[in-house]
Amino acid sequence: MDPILRLEAIRHSYGDHFTLNIPELGIQPGEIFAVVGPSGAGKSTLLRILNFLEKPQQGQVYFHGAAYTSGNLPIELRRRMTTVFQQPLLLRASVWGNVSYGLRVRGSRNGHETIRQALEEVRLAHLAKQSADRLSGGEAQRVSLARALVLNPEVLFLDEPTANLDPGNVRIIEEIIRRTNQERGMTVVWVTHNIWQARRLAHRVALLFDGEIIETATADAFFNHPQDSRTRAFLTGDLIY
Ligand SMILES: Nc1ncnc2c1ncn2[C@@H]1O[C@H](COP(=O)(O)OP(=O)(O)OP(=O)(O)O)[C@@H](O)[C@H]1O
Ligand SMILES: [Mg+2]
Repeated sequence: MDPILRLEAIRHSYGDHFTLNIPELGIQPGEIFAVVGPSGAGKSTLLRILNFLEKPQQGQVYFHGAAYTSGNLPIELRRRMTTVFQQPLLLRASVWGNVSYGLRVRGSRNGHETIRQALEEVRLAHLAKQSADRLSGGEAQRVSLARALVLNPEVLFLDEPTANLDPGNVRIIEEIIRRTNQERGMTVVWVTHNIWQARRLAHRVALLFDGEIIETATADAFFNHPQDSRTRAFLTGDLIY
């Protein structure tokens, strides 16, 4: 199958201390692709290049086989991707207002039922009228997930969305992502430093270390038969960082 997103000959440096160097990477349609690796390895940088938030200094990013940059990606294509970040950025509005915002921007009417369902799914229907600035961290992150899901993206990018959450909220979010991936075939690129999360959810996993992808494999192969000594060290917690 042709990849939905593909990176080719990417190099992107910050000063002289960090270079992301990705000769080739393909994301398959419908997969949950986890990117794991130590802090500072370049996971968020890789995600920002894949979702066209950052233009790589060298190399190409292909979406459905055609190369675009953050500057010339048509809005219809940009709207097929949504990102949830580690820190939820909510509007000073009600929970309902936050979840409906993206649909309103897109001029969509009749979103009422979609929003209601999304709030049920993240188990926040009872807080629809509450002001978003009074939510707990876990509730706020569930609102940002609902806000992303009502847009029905083709690709959902997640940058450590559960890093600050308690196990209950982590489980709710993981279940929703898994179900949405299965039911809608939504492609998911999930950055996490939590290898257990990658093991629970991902179809394929990539280890990023020092700006380079050390190993990409199916979740089974990655966790049970890692090929690279650094992958083995990362999995056992022995990779020093
Ligand atoms: N805009 C920027 N300007 C300068 N340096 C940056 C910038 N963004 C990232 N870096 C540097 O690039 C390296 C990779 O950062 P990145 O945020 O991609 O890592 P990460 O794997 O997401 O780490 P973490 O797990 O801590 O979120 C780090 O050394 C970081 O300091
Ligand atoms: Mg990061």
